[in-house]
Amino acid sequence: MVKLTVLVTGVAGFIGSSIAAALLSRGKTVIGIDSLSDYYDPQLKRRNLLRLQHPEFHFIHADLNEYDLSNLLEGVDYVFHQAGQPGVRKSWGEEFGTYLSANVSATQRLLEASKGSSIRRFVYASSSSVYGDAETYPTEESFLPRPLSPYGVSKLAAEHLCNLYAANFGVPTVSLRYFTVYGPRQRPDMAFTRFIRAALLSQPIEIYGNGKQVRDFTFIDDVVEANLLAAETDHVGSGSVFNIAGGSSVSVNEVLDLIREISPHQLDVRYTPGLPGDVKRTGGSISSVQDDLNWLPRTTIEDGIRRQFQWGIDQFTREAEGRPTNANDFWG
Ligand code: NAD
Ligand code: UGA
Repeated sequence: MVKLTVLVTGVAGFIGSSIAAALLSRGKTVIGIDSLSDYYDPQLKRRNLLRLQHPEFHFIHADLNEYDLSNLLEGVDYVFHQAGQPGVRKSWGEEFGTYLSANVSATQRLLEASKGSSIRRFVYASSSSVYGDAETYPTEESFLPRPLSPYGVSKLAAEHLCNLYAANFGVPTVSLRYFTVYGPRQRPDMAFTRFIRAALLSQPIEIYGNGKQVRDFTFIDDVVEANLLAAETDHVGSGSVFNIAGGSSVSVNEVLDLIREISPHQLDVRYTPGLPGDVKRTGGSISSVQDDLNWLPRTTIEDGIRRQFQWGIDQFTREAEGRPTNANDFWG
């Protein structure tokens, strides 16, 4: 049997490391690239890399905007392009330059390198933020995207780049529009990690706005599964776009209720003014992805939050006790 080789960009991040772990457990050779950017504590990224220690894992510590990509795709069968600058609410002002380079320029460089290569699929991590405050829910992929944040603009621009490299050069792209991904190893700036950490350490929980904003939260294992299906399914045309939405449109206040049920401590919730760029609601139609990729979300919000809470107990207890992670010893 031919051994497949896969490139995962952003491999040290929340989603990239989860995809890489799944690929390694399925016997693939994984080349991972990541700049270990300091958007959040790079130690957490090193910790993500620690769980990928495997003879078939090869890590390149590099920035996609600087590294010579000309030979990177030699012998690579699939690309999972997860590298990027995430975070909706921080994408204003001078920070926008970082969003442009990490999300738009890096994607364009990787697509250029993909032209004429023998990759079978290029899966791009797009975002529900391309929709902004949509006119209709559940929102279908064909609806006109109108981002509400600079981050959303950068993710949509990169999605368009994928589509035009597919149309002009036959690069076999598929864009997956993830809807607020959660679960173990979720980024520290995201809502569930912040809420669970605050609950466990008896700290205040800050809610931006009235907490009535709704998200179609999607569990990490379901997102990983969607990526694998997008790579494996060969009848899907180049330039396709799919919503990857968890089917759990709940408000932030409802999320707090779920955490209240499992938290050993009372929650100290404080409401603060809403932030620009934060949409009122996301909710994705999954008819297309169900038909074309045979993908359905499997994890309910109740189960998913429990699993993230369990992970948080280990994570934040260790943090509170100041226990080392040994990540530095391994990666230097
Ligand atoms: P993350 O920050 O944990 O992971 C992204 C990784 O990319 C980081 O480790 C970072 O160091 C790396 N990176 C950034 N710029 C790079 C560059 N120029 N070269 C090499 N590496 C670079 O974020 P995440 O939550 O895992 O998100 C992964 C992708 O999914 C991002 O593209 C994000 O926009 C997209 N996305 C995430 C969500 C979500 O809910 N987490 C939702 C929609 C889309
Ligand atoms: C998330 C990711 O951060 C983006 O990278 C991604 O592209 C986006 O999902 C997406 O689906 O496209 P967001 O929905 O803002 O963005 O996810 P969270 O950071 O988990 O926030 C969820 C909600 O909780 C937001 O309305 C936010 O304002 C709120 N929140 C977050 C708080 O009220 N308090 C906090 O401390 C954190």
